Amino acid sequence: MASPRLLCAFLFILTLEVSLVMGAPTPDCGPIQASDTDRIQFAENLEFLEAEFFLRAATGRGLDYYEPSFAKGGPPPIGAKKANLDLLVGRIIEEFGYEEIGHLRAIIRTTGGIQRPLLNLNAQNFANYFDQAVGYKLIPPFDPYANSINFLLASYTIPYLGLVGYVGTIPFLTGNTSRSLVAGLLGVEAGQDAVIRTLLYERGDLLVLPYKITVNEFTNRLSEYGNKLGMCGIKDEGLKVPLYLGAENRTNSNILSADANSLSYARTPAGILRIVYGTGSEYKPGGLFPNGANGNIAQRYLHKP
Ligand SMILES: *[C@@H]1O[C@H](CO)[C@@H](O)[C@H](O)[C@H]1NC(C)=O
Ligand SMILES: *[C@@H]1O[C@H](CO)[C@@H](O)[C@H](O)[C@H]1NC(C)=O
Repeated sequence: MASPRLLCAFLFILTLEVSLVMGAPTPDCGPIQASDTDRIQFAENLEFLEAEFFLRAATGRGLDYYEPSFAKGGPPPIGAKKANLDLLVGRIIEEFGYEEIGHLRAIIRTTGGIQRPLLNLNAQNFANYFDQAVGYKLIPPFDPYANSINFLLASYTIPYLGLVGYVGTIPFLTGNTSRSLVAGLLGVEAGQDAVIRTLLYERGDLLVLPYKITVNEFTNRLSEYGNKLGMCGIKDEGLKVPLYLGAENRTNSNILSADANSLSYARTPAGILRIVYGTGSEYKPGGLFPNGANGNIAQRYLHKP
């Protein structure tokens, strides 16, 4: 007689084979059921990511120095370090970092907050993501901390995910306190995204040394890769696009990423997890969140049998 364990293994292989035969399951692009608190705490994961990445890159110090209670005992990030930024970019990223501290404070005051998840901000982790985005191994490996352009490219996806996440969240919030908090968060995330895109746009035709890829081309590859991982259609556009993606189909300048009516795109929590995990699956942690994100929404996916 087969032991229960053997039977489980057999069923697992069977379902694996069925799903292989049937092809990848269709991605979940629809709305989710969640409370305001869960939705805002989901976003807190991204705020932790931004706070640590920006603060440590600009000042060499992270949340545990500025607001040690905010992490609620969560582990410190792996691999973040001071980046070699020029004066202008350094001042801007430092300010962004302090803004993220404020965002976390406001979220903690409103919802109680979650524990900081483990973040992997290692240069190698970004290098892997960039290799996937361009479709081959960059030599030498892409280093986000090497200079201002590299850091801006590494940041290109980050406030943007906050932005599309908040746009996706607001219609489902029921409380006016939640809505006013998230409106305020959205405004600043959108501003940060616009600043990063503008700084890159100014350098659009420059080669990102030592690669033979321009800044514009990198942004297009990063956006395409984000769309591939996140699924559910085009929700991210690079800085120079075909006319059909430009504002009113009249320009290929694309300093802001937006839909056919120039409205910001929205992503669901699952779509965001597929990108920040770098796995294309909200069930499989990895990438920037090696142990997965915290809070009820992300944990529900992680613990799904
Ligand atoms: C929410 O609504 C209540 C009751 O209408 C009101 O007293 C309060 O000021 C509102 N809060 C915000 C943040 O708008
Ligand atoms: C621009 O092109 C897209 C895709 O072909 C189309 O959906 C959209 O309606 C066009 N917009 C305008 C203003 O013509």
